Amino acid sequence: MLDRLDRREVKIAVLGLGYVGLPLATIFAESGFEVTGIDPDVRKVEAINRGESYIQDVPGEQVARLLESGRLRGTTEFSAIRETDAVSICVPTPLRKTGDPDLSYILTATDDLAKYMHSGMVIVLESTTYPGTTREILLPKLSEASGLVVGEDFFLAFSPERVDPGRTDWTTYNTPKVIGGITPECSKLAAAWYRQALETVVPVSSTEVAEMAKLLENTFRMINIGLVNEMAIMCDKLGIDVWEVIDAAATKPFGFMKFTPGPGLGGHCIPIDPLYLSWKLRTLNYSARFIDLASEINTNMPRYVVGRVQDALNEVCKPLKASKVLVVGAAYKPDIDDLRESPALDVIGLLRQKGAEVSYHDPYIPRIRHEDWGLDSVDDLYEQASQADCVVIITDHQVYDYARLLASAELIVDTRNALKLNRNQEPKVVRL
Ligand SMILES: NC(=O)c1ccc[n+]([C@@H]2O[C@H](COP(=O)([O-])OP(=O)(O)OC[C@H]3O[C@@H](n4cnc5c(N)ncnc54)[C@H](O)[C@@H]3O)[C@@H](O)[C@H]2O)c1
Repeated sequence: MLDRLDRREVKIAVLGLGYVGLPLATIFAESGFEVTGIDPDVRKVEAINRGESYIQDVPGEQVARLLESGRLRGTTEFSAIRETDAVSICVPTPLRKTGDPDLSYILTATDDLAKYMHSGMVIVLESTTYPGTTREILLPKLSEASGLVVGEDFFLAFSPERVDPGRTDWTTYNTPKVIGGITPECSKLAAAWYRQALETVVPVSSTEVAEMAKLLENTFRMINIGLVNEMAIMCDKLGIDVWEVIDAAATKPFGFMKFTPGPGLGGHCIPIDPLYLSWKLRTLNYSARFIDLASEINTNMPRYVVGRVQDALNEVCKPLKASKVLVVGAAYKPDIDDLRESPALDVIGLLRQKGAEVSYHDPYIPRIRHEDWGLDSVDDLYEQASQADCVVIITDHQVYDYARLLASAELIVDTRNALKLNRNQEPKVVRL
């Protein structure tokens, strides 16, 4: 296997061609491997086979070039696994409505993989999940279906994806990649494969350590965001400018890391992954208290923001009901087109529940189709801002002209300090 890796004779399959899978597939292809991306979503597969990208971080020209070179192709056929030697699994790991982990995508992908796997194969799970998943769920399924022995006939590992969509300094290629195998031989082969394509590989002693490392990273972020959100609430009660406090604290050259408050958590990782960990601990009769507390504070932030909008309107003698509220920015973070778990969805939903006439603008999200409602992004942001009773800045995209927004609007609730004003500097602006 090691010699074949060096000679780029190993053929790779990536299962799941989303935000994680497509960038990974292109990196493997860039480093000279022949890569087959497998996804049941025919639109994604067809896009790749036309040489087009649907992920902001992956340029269309790159997909076209790799397709042309014969090193990247897409298919919906899982039987293509038969022709490959190494498989990365990048399928979704959402939560069920009950808040419990939804492993159905991992289970289906593993069953499909098990049908076509063969001796000598290296398999790496990339999807974020609770510690124990690779050993407790994937290993028995793969071993039983194939009759192969792990560490001898096939090699299984976990390597958490750490991509931060929209980021250009740290990408899938140069962000160090933690990897841990079921056995030492599994770690060795999986790390050898990933080293061929990625800048830095960090081997750890087990799949559980690799799984837990990812959850520590995301839980760390979630808890610190919860802390700074509560700081914002406390500072407001005390009449202190939380943004000035944060900037002052951030001058400390050691022992402090800057986090900023906002309207709530978003994206596919931070709001979800720590709940995989707390769920696993609940099965062991242990309550993950930090996670529960931070989750409660963060989940309540959209409600807090709507309260601030209601209070701001009240100050100008307007009820929230029937007021025109324009939400500015819907993506879960600036400069990207990802709406998943965005707090904008909750803020809009709550404003609508209270009878506000809500519209939104986002240059990256032309329409929102929620379970209970649907909206199209308004065309002329500044014109709409001038007609709104209140503008609520949820996502601070760089493309916005904030001076013009400030000049256009009658009343603004700024949840991101996008306007960069001091507390009470501008009477028509309310800040978190
Ligand atoms: N998006 C991120 O920034 C990010 C960062 C780090 C880790 N992760 C983790 O990576 C995993 C994938 O996330 P994503 O953002 O790429 O999700 P995604 O929804 O963008 O992509 C997942 C893809 O898997 C496909 N799929 C579903 N079932 C499949 C199956 N049985 N076989 C093959 N493909 C299947 C879907 O059609 C979809 O195209 C998740 O566990 C997530 O938590 C995501």
